[in-house]
Amino acid sequence: MCGIVACRMPGAAAPFLVDALRLLEYRGYDSAGVAILTTTGTTVSSRTTHRVDTLERQLDALDQSGVDGALSGTGIGHTRWATHGAVTEANAHPHRDCTGRVSIVHNGIIENAVELRAQLEAERHVFASDVDSEVVSHLIEHELRSGCGLRDAVTAATGRMRGSWAVVALDAQSGALVAAAHRSPLLVARSEKGVFAASDINAIAQWVDLFQAMRDGDVVELGEQFAWTRAGTGVTPPPFVSSIWSGTSHGLAGHADFMGKEIEEQPETAARIIDELAPRIANGSLWSELQLPPFERVAVLGCGTSLNAGRVIANAFGSLGDVPNSSLIASEGQSAIVEPRTLVIALSQSGETADVLRAIDDLDLGTSALVALTNSDHSTLARRADSMLNCNAGPEIGVAATKTFVAQVITGVAMALSALAATRRIDREYARRQVDDLRRIPDLLAHAIAASQKAIPPLIDEIRDAQGYLFLGRGSGVVYAAEGALKLKELSYRWAEHYPAGELKHGPLALVEAGTPVVVIDSGDRRIESNIAEVSARGGRVIRIGGAGSTIPALGLSLGTPMPGGIDRWGPLESVVPLQILARELALALGRDVDKPRNLAKSVTVE
Ligand code: F6R
Repeated sequence: MCGIVACRMPGAAAPFLVDALRLLEYRGYDSAGVAILTTTGTTVSSRTTHRVDTLERQLDALDQSGVDGALSGTGIGHTRWATHGAVTEANAHPHRDCTGRVSIVHNGIIENAVELRAQLEAERHVFASDVDSEVVSHLIEHELRSGCGLRDAVTAATGRMRGSWAVVALDAQSGALVAAAHRSPLLVARSEKGVFAASDINAIAQWVDLFQAMRDGDVVELGEQFAWTRAGTGVTPPPFVSSIWSGTSHGLAGHADFMGKEIEEQPETAARIIDELAPRIANGSLWSELQLPPFERVAVLGCGTSLNAGRVIANAFGSLGDVPNSSLIASEGQSAIVEPRTLVIALSQSGETADVLRAIDDLDLGTSALVALTNSDHSTLARRADSMLNCNAGPEIGVAATKTFVAQVITGVAMALSALAATRRIDREYARRQVDDLRRIPDLLAHAIAASQKAIPPLIDEIRDAQGYLFLGRGSGVVYAAEGALKLKELSYRWAEHYPAGELKHGPLALVEAGTPVVVIDSGDRRIESNIAEVSARGGRVIRIGGAGSTIPALGLSLGTPMPGGIDRWGPLESVVPLQILARELALALGRDVDKPRNLAKSVTVE
């Protein structure tokens, strides 16, 4: 989705802005642009509805043409993912005021933009685009007319706005750079390389080690020192946070794409997380550190893959500790009723998903507590929840969630076990056996990767021309069927449905004809055999993911050692691996961009 970068550096801003925008490409975008201060006190801007490469060529040409002076080290940049207004150069950011003095980039939605635009047009402001964001530049222009500085103008302008914003404004006259944030993420940072702002730490991680996450209502002047204010009054700046993004994280390290790399990172990621959490599970300390009240039931909340991870965690609470549990699609959260003493677990790898943030705003929590399970401990979700658990997946660049799913499940199940042990729903010895099972997950994932890499590529030619795909499971396998269908849809752009296998005969069986690919997650329920027979009898192409002898023998059952704690009650987690690999291989065979599927974004900041 939309991304922001800004800098004030001793050298030229253009190469930094281009590099930083490239690092935001993974979030998904359909236009990009920059505005750079010149040494003669103007700004030049360049925008495109093509890729950042085009922007780079445009900037080179501008630089060589000499513009109105040399391009300086101060500038702002943006990648736009269209919501309001078509994908056109005029709608791309940065937006300017009437005079060209003010340039702004904006993420979020100005809910009263129509009203503000009408007021501004009545005052003879002339708009150049259809987008809500442009009101911000004209509001600032209006305030500057009174002779105040940029920071005061931004404060007054944002005071008239409703909705959400991360804004960086550049004043050509004074060279000032001011950031403002409200319900949309924006980070600021300073290092010997310069002063930076970004909506996503990935964009600036190469230039800074520490950053500060702006809070709702903050306005910061990005000068020699950062001046933090809220509603015009100085406030204590938020703490410095270190970045999880190391320089090496950005590379493909020999992989063809980030999705492939991130799938293969899963065993190592799982091992690191389990090593870190294991000593605090059976003794209940992981749970007590969260300082949450006692609970009688659990509700998980999220979207897409995070919701699927939540469902696995809910299953774990139910199957291991008999805790009543439910799951809630965040975008439908407004009608949800949370019963008293519910532990609400909101999952979001980005921690910025608008549907999740809206749902937690809408829920009447009463005596219930909210814990965030996210991959970003400075995210909005983490800040708004009563407590936060970081799933520590590390950076995930591919738009399709892979290793964050595995990390969320392991972290969430660890929390479940710890909570069940702390509240004496399970005894500590039983919890310890479960931890032993958790410790086997990295090997199970590695086995699943090896088995899938061998079994899946030869299948692809046979199924690549199918018009639709079915994914079936039973019991704990159903949620994996859901995740498999989701991955296949988003990567291959083909129709895919998932069903509890027993439901097949109640309707979806009509879809099955000769050659229809039907992927079955065989997690051990013997009744699945008759569902497989129903498909085979109609000529469907059954792809069984299970133990030895399956089409894809990726599940731990094939390793032959019984699980001491019966982990597969809420698993098998490794069944997600063949589903990820199947979706990726099919998408590659169809010529899709697996890291940046069309129309999708890594951080979905609109409802
Ligand atoms: C699927 C996928 C999406 C996200 C969903 C929620 O591969 O990536 O379905 O899972 O948009 O995103 P987060 O986890 O950031 O809330």
